[in-house]
Amino acid sequence: MAEQPQQLVFIPFPSVGHLVSMVELAKLLVHRHTTLVVSIPVITSLSTAAAVTRYTDSLAAPDSDLNPRVKLLHLANDDDDPSAPAGSVLALIQSQKPRVTEAVSAELTRSGGRLAGFVHDMFCTSMLDVAEGFGVPSYIYFTSGAAFLGFILRAQELHDQEGVDLTESKELAELAIPTLKHHLPRKVIPSSFLNKEWASVVHTMARDFRKTKGILVNTVKELESYAVDSLSSGKNNTPKVYPLGPILNLKAEENSDGSILQWLDQQPEYSVVFLCFGSMGAFNAEQVKEIACALEGSGHRFLWSLRRPVQGAWASPTEYENVSEVLPEGFLDRIREVGRVTGWAPQAAVLAHRSVGGFVSHCGWNSTLESLWFGVPMATWPMYAEQQFNAFLLVEELRVATEVRMDYRTESGEIVSAEEIERGIRSLMEEDCSRKTRMKEFSDQAKGALMDGGSSSCSITEFFRDVMSAGDV
Ligand SMILES: *[C@@H]1O[C@H](CO)[C@@H](O)[C@H](O)[C@H]1NC(C)=O
Ligand SMILES: *[C@@H]1O[C@H](CO)[C@@H](O)[C@H](O)[C@H]1NC(C)=O
Repeated sequence: MAEQPQQLVFIPFPSVGHLVSMVELAKLLVHRHTTLVVSIPVITSLSTAAAVTRYTDSLAAPDSDLNPRVKLLHLANDDDDPSAPAGSVLALIQSQKPRVTEAVSAELTRSGGRLAGFVHDMFCTSMLDVAEGFGVPSYIYFTSGAAFLGFILRAQELHDQEGVDLTESKELAELAIPTLKHHLPRKVIPSSFLNKEWASVVHTMARDFRKTKGILVNTVKELESYAVDSLSSGKNNTPKVYPLGPILNLKAEENSDGSILQWLDQQPEYSVVFLCFGSMGAFNAEQVKEIACALEGSGHRFLWSLRRPVQGAWASPTEYENVSEVLPEGFLDRIREVGRVTGWAPQAAVLAHRSVGGFVSHCGWNSTLESLWFGVPMATWPMYAEQQFNAFLLVEELRVATEVRMDYRTESGEIVSAEEIERGIRSLMEEDCSRKTRMKEFSDQAKGALMDGGSSSCSITEFFRDVMSAGDV
């Protein structure tokens, strides 16, 4: 007798990065559970629609290997509606609740089967009551690390129960966080927690997290064992935590320009420092010159992904038409033998390359996991979001990174000097073999985690069992 299909609904945040990550998680689940269908209503905002559509089109292409049991649900389109809230992405998500309900109901009618639960992106907790409307439990997909999850929960608890307002208490130089061994310096607390308007948003998020059945965390238990143990101790009124990463999308760039990789092929093993600052990372001309001087001064081989900043909040960088215009005079000629300046770079393929010996990174969690996966030691240069926290985690807690800076914030407009950058690069490439050894260990653990019997594999099994039985009681 054919088993009745079981359904889960994943609610992604309207950005390609978050959507990709959810689709990868869905692929993992349906691959292991042959009666499972995962439906993903695709929410887009005006600024992300084009990129999201490019990605979903690629999934629908005839050569796509997407399992047909991962279903992208397209929502009724209102791009032409001038009242659509373009300003606030959280308001946009909120406004999509009726459409999501409609799309999920239609899908259930179409494919039959039992809906077992919802998994919401960490920024989509306003959808919790949609799941409630269907009478099924909610889980969160947390796309950063376990230590940071602990920080969000602790910050909300401090605020709600102990009257500590981080936006006010400037005299608090550091905080004790249950998921960190060391005290967290105020200078690496993400800006959203220090700003009144955003602090209320992140505290609401944390309160919503506590209402759910569980939190799937894109991390590896062995990597963040201290944080995972603390969250699992049952002490802090935290929902069950499932460390099931690293969820990465390493295949995305196979078709990229091969000239960078050819150049890397010609470099000695571990000799190249790779600089790349994420999909939003770009610096002004003054900062670009400091980085260029630092690279020349360090004498190390390098590959530098250099992109042109665009004015406006959340505008993605573009490519330079003529990169010489921002670089010091004659720079490209002088470094021709040892370095490459490129625009967008195929990050995963570069990190996988044996000639890459260090990674100067903005410490986005995705990039952090990729670097760990490939065992490449890092130098931290955070820019926005929770990246300062991640930098602290990498430098002080896990000791796999050195710092250019841990506390840099894009909005400060500060210029990091060539001397400081050069010191960071030298330290990354010349000192402390133990960082490399630890990175290698984490890399092996990360790769083992998703194999049969590995810690993340077991978490996925456990989550599946829990969510499927949750509705039965
Ligand atoms: C992570 O990076 C890879 C490539 O480096 C990209 O394909 C993917 O979309 C990114 N994921 C997130 C969650 O940002
Ligand atoms: C690029 O800019 C440099 C420096 O301003 C200039 O010397 C060079 O001719 C430019 N190259 C092209 C192709 O425009």
